Amino acid sequence: MKNVSLAIIPGDGVGREVMPGAVDVLDTIADIHGGLSFQNTWYPYSCDYYLKHGRMMAEDGLDQLGQHDHIFLGAVGNPKLVPDHTSLWGLLIAIRREFQQVINVRPAKKLSGIDSPLRQNEDFDFVVVRENSEGEYSEVGGRIHQGDDEVAIQNAIFTRKTTERVMKYAFSLAENRRKYVMSATKSNGIVHSMPFWDEVFNDVGDGYPSIDQASSHIDALAASLVSKPHELDVVVASNLFGDILTDIGAAIMGSIGVAPAANLNVNGKYPSMFEPVHGSAPDIEGKGIANPIGQIWTGKMLLDHIGEHELSTFLLSTIEEVLADGFKTQDIGGNSSTGEVISEIVRRLK
Ligand code: NAI
Ligand code: MG
Repeated sequence: MKNVSLAIIPGDGVGREVMPGAVDVLDTIADIHGGLSFQNTWYPYSCDYYLKHGRMMAEDGLDQLGQHDHIFLGAVGNPKLVPDHTSLWGLLIAIRREFQQVINVRPAKKLSGIDSPLRQNEDFDFVVVRENSEGEYSEVGGRIHQGDDEVAIQNAIFTRKTTERVMKYAFSLAENRRKYVMSATKSNGIVHSMPFWDEVFNDVGDGYPSIDQASSHIDALAASLVSKPHELDVVVASNLFGDILTDIGAAIMGSIGVAPAANLNVNGKYPSMFEPVHGSAPDIEGKGIANPIGQIWTGKMLLDHIGEHELSTFLLSTIEEVLADGFKTQDIGGNSSTGEVISEIVRRLK
């Protein structure tokens, strides 16, 4: 019997509306498997928790979460009650940093049943592997002087250790896919960190002779996500470049409500965290129309991470069947409720 201990954090807004259904889906999958079970512990960490306790999670919150195998998170943020930087840094970023989740993985795939805003109808199916802990998003730098003399310096940090880890993850992911890795670079304009990035990419790539490898400047690569996304398989990118590419990925899928993501701890010391790309969507909260596909597909990534590839493939094809048969929320042109989409997926899985 494989027992997986999950910390479930629904969070705020639509996170609470899509999480119970996604947990139902995972439990249903475990029943089908027979030899798999999830031990779910629910945590109320959220902006409401902050209003009651003055902090986004318990004082020993990270210790508690750290005892689980993995974290399944909905969305965090309620800007009317708590400033976004407080909720973000008090929970999400604290988890990502403390648990050394140095890789962010975000797939983008043309799903049957959803119209992509791209006019061409070619199927695309690629994964962006984004460095998640350093790069352009660093706190190193500062500002000096005032007025006309003012100077701002922002340093980008690229360590060999983390860059290598990200590259290795991208290449080994490609081994089980279509065996092609594209690296996002800008070594023509950014003359220190990006040539370093390219060197590490080539060095690590030498260890994977069966994988096709190429580099593209980020501007051209961003354009090709729109003009020919079907040519891509695995894309490896720094923190900033990956951030931009994954938003394009979500957009060409048709809605941010379907986009999944995983924050991975690759040294196995700490839990990884599985959370969809979207936020708490305060504008549609409480209406029962939140798209649950992003959260459920994120659950599919969790299944992949624990080695259950057959069931994860079955789950994704079930999601696509349900969409193709018209069980869709408003954001992707349907009129089903959150609950109707979830029940239909659970019914067909069974
Ligand atoms: P958002 O992703 O919550 O919403 C952007 C737009 O997408 C909205 O129009 C929303 O209605 C729509 N949308 C989002 N999820 C959807 C779903 N499942 N189904 C249908 N439509 C959906 O981003 P926004 O509005 O910038 O941020 C709202 C709050 O969420 C803020 O407090 C922000 O800090 C937080 N946030 C949290 C994230 C996380 O927990 N990882 C990520 C992004 C934002
Ligand atoms: Mg972003």
